Parts: sequence; structure tokens; C-alpha cells
Amino acid sequence: MLTELRNQQTQKIPSHSVFNNWDVITEGWYYVCGSKELTRNSVKSFKICGQHIAVFRNSKGELAAMDGYCAHMGVDLGIGSVVDDKIQCYFHHWKYDKSGNCVHIPAQKEIPKKSCLNTYAIQEEYGVIWIYPASEATQKVLEVPELKDREVLVSLGEPYERTCHHHITMINGIDPQHLKTVHNIQMDMDLNIEMVNEATIDIELSGTIPNERFIEKLSRIFIGSNYGYSMRYQFTTLAALTTLKQTKLFGKFDIIPVMNMIFSYQTIEPGRTKVVPIFITKKRRGIHGFLFSLLWLQLSKLAFKVLQDEDGAVYDNIRFNSGNLLTIDKPITKYIGFVNRLKSSPWSRVES
Ligand code: FES
Ligand SMILES: [Fe+2]
Repeated sequence: MLTELRNQQTQKIPSHSVFNNWDVITEGWYYVCGSKELTRNSVKSFKICGQHIAVFRNSKGELAAMDGYCAHMGVDLGIGSVVDDKIQCYFHHWKYDKSGNCVHIPAQKEIPKKSCLNTYAIQEEYGVIWIYPASEATQKVLEVPELKDREVLVSLGEPYERTCHHHITMINGIDPQHLKTVHNIQMDMDLNIEMVNEATIDIELSGTIPNERFIEKLSRIFIGSNYGYSMRYQFTTLAALTTLKQTKLFGKFDIIPVMNMIFSYQTIEPGRTKVVPIFITKKRRGIHGFLFSLLWLQLSKLAFKVLQDEDGAVYDNIRFNSGNLLTIDKPITKYIGFVNRLKSSPWSRVES
């Protein structure tokens, strides 16, 4: 049972047009699969936010995505094959080109009017295939500012689920209060939110590491007294975390690399959210550089694991209430406004 449906009479909570609304699938880039999972001349179907989609790769390596049920009698196109760079349906061999047009029907020459399929924008980035719930995307897959135009090494993490909507789990990045209360990081952090465009926000947090507890003193010796991290949210379907900002080795040398992670979010069905963590670092030169990059990816995974477990307790046990936010929660109020302005897509469970 959805938590939103509990205590409805005794603990009323505000509802929103988009925010925390399981019926609305907003525009945005959604994770399909790792690039390597779809080889040339192959087709697979996927359930993305409840929508059944067929994605195929032609002989040149190009990708295309369309609705996943054949326009003839509705067979799953994912069990078909790729013939002459077209998807061929398993059942009666109707063929679809990458624009979703049916171009061949073995049983007759004439192609019926209602035989084409909706197509969806698709992009390959960070070793992942991404899909957008419209034929054209309003912007490209989120760019990590620190990694712009750089060669990167990527490691896909294990996907996991949460019971709350991803609009809620993403509050994690803009709630510095919980760093103290949940993660026991006793730092006062300044937070700055900036709108990059109508679908992207940047959140920057920084502060001074206290000098009281043993762990704080130790941290100050190794990484200096300053610490910062930033988040970039795109459409609420992608979040890029850059951490270890402003740190200096032994407080002096500006050589500690930042740590980058990307989180991809999608709802599976009401009450189930899928999160895919993606670990990413720039590809360093030489064998030592390469090994360091690999080590850095492993350390990123370790750091993520620690925080994930602590945060999990919150995000699997919450019926989010936006009706009692305090002044200190202002970034969250701002974020809710941002989410409510996002456009709903045709994958939504209700017609907009
Ligand atoms: S169901 Fe696909 S060709 Fe008949
Ligand atoms: Fe957290």
C-alpha cells in the first residue's frame, strides 16, 4: 500500500500537480540499459516508468526507440529481430524503420494508415543508453561540469529500489540538516541553489570542518579544513554529485581529485522507485594514471555504500509532508516549485 494513502484523515498532507505524484511521468532522460547490453543488429524491449519500449541498434551502431507493441496485433517487438536495419516483428514480419514507420508487410503491398509507432529520443552517454519520453528532447543528457569534454571511465553500480517517489529521495542533496542528524557530520554548510535552465538546477554546499572530535581532527590533517560538494539535478530523473570539493592534501596541496557519481531515477509503478548509481571519473594518462582512476572508482563506490545505508532508513520509511516546512527548509520549498513546473509526458498514467 502506498504510504500516501495512509493516515489520510488524521494526518492530512498537501498533494501536488507533479511533485511526489506517481501518476505523472515528467519529461527527462531515463535509464534504459548499459550500452554494451544492446549489440549491433539487435532489438530488446524494456519497461521504463511502466511504458513498454523497444530499442534497437542497427548494423552501423545507431540506436532508435519506439513503442514496444507491434501496430498489427500487439506482439512485443523485443522478441523480434533486426533485418536490413529495421525491426522485424516475430509474428507476421511487419518491418519498422528507425522513424517508427511500418515499411513492409509480407501479406500485402498496401501499408495501413494506423501502422506507425511513436518514437522516442535516445542518447548514449556515460556508457548508458538513455531515453526521453518524446520524439525530440529539449536538452541533452546532463553534463557533469568537471568532466566536460574529458575522456571518462565509468562503472555502473547495482540498481536498487526505494518505496518513496524519487522526488523525495532527491531531497537528500538539498537537506544539509540531515548531514548532522543522520550522518553525524557536524558541519555548518552554506547552501546555494541556482537555476541553470528550466530543467536543471545546481546546488552548491560548502563549510568548514570542525576541530573537536577525533575524526574531525584526522580529516583536517588529511584533507584540510574546508569541504564542499555540489549536486546538479536535471528533470529530477538525473542527479550528478561532485564531492571532495575544496579539499587539499594535508591542508596544503590542491591535488585531491573530486569524486563524481550520477544517479538515475525512475518510477517502476506506484510505490516503487528504481535508482541506478553510476560511478565516473576522468581517464588519467599512463598505466599509473589508469590504475589510479580504477582505484578512485572503487573508493567512490565505497563512499556511496556508507551514505546509502544511512539514508535508506529515511527514504524507505517516509510519507512526505510538504505542509510543515520551516525557514531552514527553504531550499526544499524551492525545489518542490521547480519540480511542479516540469512538463508531464505521454508516459504519464493520467492524461494531462
Ligand atoms: S503482430 Fe506483429 S506483425 Fe502481426
Ligand atoms: Fe544523506
